[in-house]
Amino acid sequence: MDITRRKFLQYCGQAAILLGFEAWLPPSAAAADGTMPLRFLRHIITADSTSSRTIMWQSNTNLSGCALEYRPANDIRATKSVPAAVTSLFEDKAPVFFCSVTLTGLSPAASYEYRIIQGERASRWHTFQTEPENLSEVSALIFCDSQCSGSYDVWQQTFQTAWQRHPESQFAAIIGDLTDNGQSDWHWDNFFAAMGSIPAQHPLVPAMGNHECYGLDWKFCLPRRYLASFALPDNNSAKFQDCFYAFDYGPVHFIVLNTQELELHELLPGLLEHQLHWLKQDTNIHHLPWQVVLMHKDILAYDEYQLGTRQKGGISDIGRAFMPVFDELGIDLVLTGHMHTYRSRGHIKNMQPSADGPFYILSGPAGNRQYTVPEDKTFDRSAIYQPTPPHYMTLHATAQELTLTGCTTDGEPIETIKLTK
Ligand SMILES: [Fe+2]
Repeated sequence: MDITRRKFLQYCGQAAILLGFEAWLPPSAAAADGTMPLRFLRHIITADSTSSRTIMWQSNTNLSGCALEYRPANDIRATKSVPAAVTSLFEDKAPVFFCSVTLTGLSPAASYEYRIIQGERASRWHTFQTEPENLSEVSALIFCDSQCSGSYDVWQQTFQTAWQRHPESQFAAIIGDLTDNGQSDWHWDNFFAAMGSIPAQHPLVPAMGNHECYGLDWKFCLPRRYLASFALPDNNSAKFQDCFYAFDYGPVHFIVLNTQELELHELLPGLLEHQLHWLKQDTNIHHLPWQVVLMHKDILAYDEYQLGTRQKGGISDIGRAFMPVFDELGIDLVLTGHMHTYRSRGHIKNMQPSADGPFYILSGPAGNRQYTVPEDKTFDRSAIYQPTPPHYMTLHATAQELTLTGCTTDGEPIETIKLTK
């Protein structure tokens, strides 16, 4: 029987859940904020951070009738109330109620206060600040594969350490496989709890990974928990809303794509074709200096068997689907995960190493699942040692220069890449 390392780890995770080991692990964050029973208050990226904010929270108790009150800082008379959109899911051990509010028409470069209310109950007041118009630069943290087994301590350490080192960061992107099992209460609770209160201040930029599409039985399923957890910018598609999206931040147009064709082609038919069509339209109407793609699965197969090419190694099925379009659209940078290692491949055009074309970097993990990945002699330009320790990247862009730096959670520099216009 040909069992890949990925399958083996999957079976181990399945056995742990079936044996109930996960239930022995410590409970996650406290569930009260003021007198409100809410958990995991978080800001989610919007298409325009100068004038809008999406704020979400959840609870295991019914949050029907919840609303968000907000006002410019210290201007009590200007308080407004917006009813929350409430959805619920009962996938695992307990029902979960998800609430979201998107605030629009906010003033740029302004401070706001907000709280959550339900009847007589209220959270404490929280604050956020909108970005100024014509923002000339952006700083962000990039994480891939935060999924953990046994404990999310490594994800907590990676996320919290990165923010301590780079408090200037404006948002955190997590490029897929946020949790090990996409429908598990334990995994999602620990994933969010590990981030503490940081997402209540800085927006999250999630990308869907293949592990978001696993059910408790480890069979492919719709990523219901991921879709309920993140109300993402509108992509003009009711069928594929929250599967892929784009947003502007300073001089960069960020495009977050969905690489789950293998997992979702029967459950969400048309996902890839619709997405490629949308991508061409989206890049047609945005004209910022940089176009950066974030997507989970990598453009190279390494040791993962590809159904399309019927081989391991070389360009992956996902690479073959997207790379010609990235060439055509002039994408500058593509950041991927999934393989749990760091590789810089330089510019690739027409599926060959090149002096120009999109620059491709693979990174991760940010959690505790470490793999040993073979090299790709054609495309790998630099690599970290194996198995790869947990790490993250910083991204900083001005109109003229885009800089990426990889760093391990322990503080070991990996590499700095500079792209210029
Ligand atoms: Fe993955």
